[in-house]
Amino acid sequence: MTGAPPPWAMLAELTHGCPLHCPYCSNPLELVRRSRELTGEEWAEVLRQAGELGVVHTHLSGGEPLLRTDLETITAAAESAGIYTQLVTSGVGLTKARLAALVDAGLRGVQLSVQHSDPGASDRIAGRRSFTAKERAAALVRDAGLPLGLNIVLHRDNLDALDDLVELGASWGAQRIELANTQFYGWALRNRTALLPTREQLARARDAVERWRERLDGSMDLVWVVPDYFDGVAKPCMGGWGAVSLTVAPDGTALPCPAAATIPGLDPPNVRDHRLDWIWNHSGAFNHYRGETWMKDPCRSCAHRAEDFGGCRCQAYALTGDAAAADPACGLSPHHGLIRALAGAPGPGPDDTAAAGPGYVYRKPGRG
Ligand code: FES
Repeated sequence: MTGAPPPWAMLAELTHGCPLHCPYCSNPLELVRRSRELTGEEWAEVLRQAGELGVVHTHLSGGEPLLRTDLETITAAAESAGIYTQLVTSGVGLTKARLAALVDAGLRGVQLSVQHSDPGASDRIAGRRSFTAKERAAALVRDAGLPLGLNIVLHRDNLDALDDLVELGASWGAQRIELANTQFYGWALRNRTALLPTREQLARARDAVERWRERLDGSMDLVWVVPDYFDGVAKPCMGGWGAVSLTVAPDGTALPCPAAATIPGLDPPNVRDHRLDWIWNHSGAFNHYRGETWMKDPCRSCAHRAEDFGGCRCQAYALTGDAAAADPACGLSPHHGLIRALAGAPGPGPDDTAAAGPGYVYRKPGRG
């Protein structure tokens, strides 16, 4: 045993198939084909082992998990393993009957992705008509009495709509809105120029969040996921490598974070070959960047190393070619200039974006 405490959360990426084409998708460039996905029985076994390991919460995610016709079976398996399930969905394809079946199977909450408060802009960002389906899905979730959260990825094209987005969440009955500034992994990195906001946009959005928090007075939870390109501070990615959660990709690859497969030589294990407790406690992939022994300077001697864990390994690799380097988002990283140059570069303003179109490279994951 490594002595690592057990994970409490698991991201179950049931499929990479998705009806949307979002330019900020953080899934890897190489998506898992539907023919290689774990079967419902395999997911049930993974969830059973996850429950034994100590996992108490799972996001049933994707892609679009509603594309799995056996989603009810998977949800029921989580429920019998004592794991609280939350469905992370675009809302496309959710019907009253499907939701009722999922609730019967034990589903405890729904997190709905929203691209913009304006229907036309939302459809443009998603790359297809989907706003109406989201509105309908929110009403179904509310009518079913399930907790509803909205997941809004923020970028240049929607940051100035923050007030309207919070109002939309309130009118849809959301208890929680996650305002997640775009993290540049996977496909999102390809659209970084079009998605990076201006500092002025971020400052306005931050002020708006503070105003709303005061006004809502705890009646709705507003979570602000920091824009680490702009703050000069590394985020404590995943709460530390192999520290609190794990991800299982659609083909059973087990990862310390959703983007970790991008790190060469990591050799992530697969749940088809190993039990989850071995993967968590003994696999090289989960131990490689666990704790502090892997750290180089400046992280090794940094007073913040127990708070930010050196930042994000995947971002360090993507920007410097060395996954053990300090995350360049940190102002103390010798590579911080890379990020400063990007965050300070004068891009088109939001008005230009609206007029000319953002020039996205849309993702085409398809329905499989
Ligand atoms: Fe992999 Fe941050 S996304 S460690």
